[in-house]
Amino acid sequence: MDIEFVRSRFIKHFDGKTGNVYHSPGRINLIGEHTDYNGGFVFPGAVDKGIMAEMRANGTEDTVMAYAIDLKDRVDFHLNDPAGPRASWARYIYGISKEMQKLGVPVKGFNIAFAGDVPLGAGMSSSAAMESCFACGLNDIFGENKVEKWDMVLAGQATEHNYCGVNCGIMDQCGSVFGKAGCLMRLDCRSREFEYFPFKPEGYRLVLLDSVVKHELAGSPYNDRRNSCENVVKHIAAKHPEGKFETLRDCTWEQLEEVRAEVGEEDYTRAHFVLGEKDRVLAVCDALLAGDYETVGKKMYETHYGLSKEYEVSCEELDYLNDIAKENGVTGSRIMGGGFGGCTINLVKNELYDKFIADAKQKFAAKYGHEPKVYDVVIGDGSRKLC
Ligand code: GLA
Repeated sequence: MDIEFVRSRFIKHFDGKTGNVYHSPGRINLIGEHTDYNGGFVFPGAVDKGIMAEMRANGTEDTVMAYAIDLKDRVDFHLNDPAGPRASWARYIYGISKEMQKLGVPVKGFNIAFAGDVPLGAGMSSSAAMESCFACGLNDIFGENKVEKWDMVLAGQATEHNYCGVNCGIMDQCGSVFGKAGCLMRLDCRSREFEYFPFKPEGYRLVLLDSVVKHELAGSPYNDRRNSCENVVKHIAAKHPEGKFETLRDCTWEQLEEVRAEVGEEDYTRAHFVLGEKDRVLAVCDALLAGDYETVGKKMYETHYGLSKEYEVSCEELDYLNDIAKENGVTGSRIMGGGFGGCTINLVKNELYDKFIADAKQKFAAKYGHEPKVYDVVIGDGSRKLC
């Protein structure tokens, strides 16, 4: 995907004039899944794939003319229309515009054309890439770049909550906005502090295997899990009026056991996963510092097990990819992102890489009729203006 490609479409579909071009990446996450909205730690990094948009103020009060290049779909809408557009991709543009207005950016009518090479529905957060790319553009075009990066992260998250029906955490938007080439980020989602963590595992590669099973977080399954976690916190807080319990981050294993009977097995098991995941992220941090990739990998398998059997966000195809990784002696493998389809992330020794990929393609195709897609992870930079 290059600037000239996006520019040629922008010129063709609008009035022939050029605008400014922005880029924001998708993200990976080494470990720490479904911990962000529980106040825990996550370990994301931006990838070298993302969304590129050309944008330009069009002189109208509130008319947005939007073209999704990959979908060959054009939607025009008014910012002042309380309902907003129906097309799901256009709702990201509408939502982020409204959220940037709330931050004081005087967003008026604009033209936008965008394209992406971050695969949709693969769990690499194409949606956060859109939000942060559009936020970066609106901040530049209408806001004199006065909005801080953290506020853009939160505006992206609010877009998901208020316009797209996903009550997500902040990991994806944070990875997309703050990403740095060659570095993962250890982010504390409660304090919102993070540190860059150079990631160059000598002798290993990170590779994603995309099951190409559609990953759709909108609607209930994702939000249901978040509700389960919040319900457990509510019950623990009621039992301990002396304490401060905002998220599962504040809760101990003992407190979870105390409310097991009252919250029921489903909520209990989900919270059990989250407490385990919280511990695993910290163990992975220590292991990374010690250069102990065997432990990192072991924790990745444990996370997969938890996401599959406790949190129940896996699917047959992802479990199968995880089994193939295990059979091939891959150091670590797990579902990445929200779940319900998408990718596994695999930490694999260089010398095993070729055989693993060939074996995964062959076995997966024999069972499901198509090969998984393979993406070698290159950790790239966060949102930026290209020209
Ligand atoms: C999605 C959400 C994130 C996070 C992950 C799971 O990607 O957008 O906020 O909850 O799922 O870790």
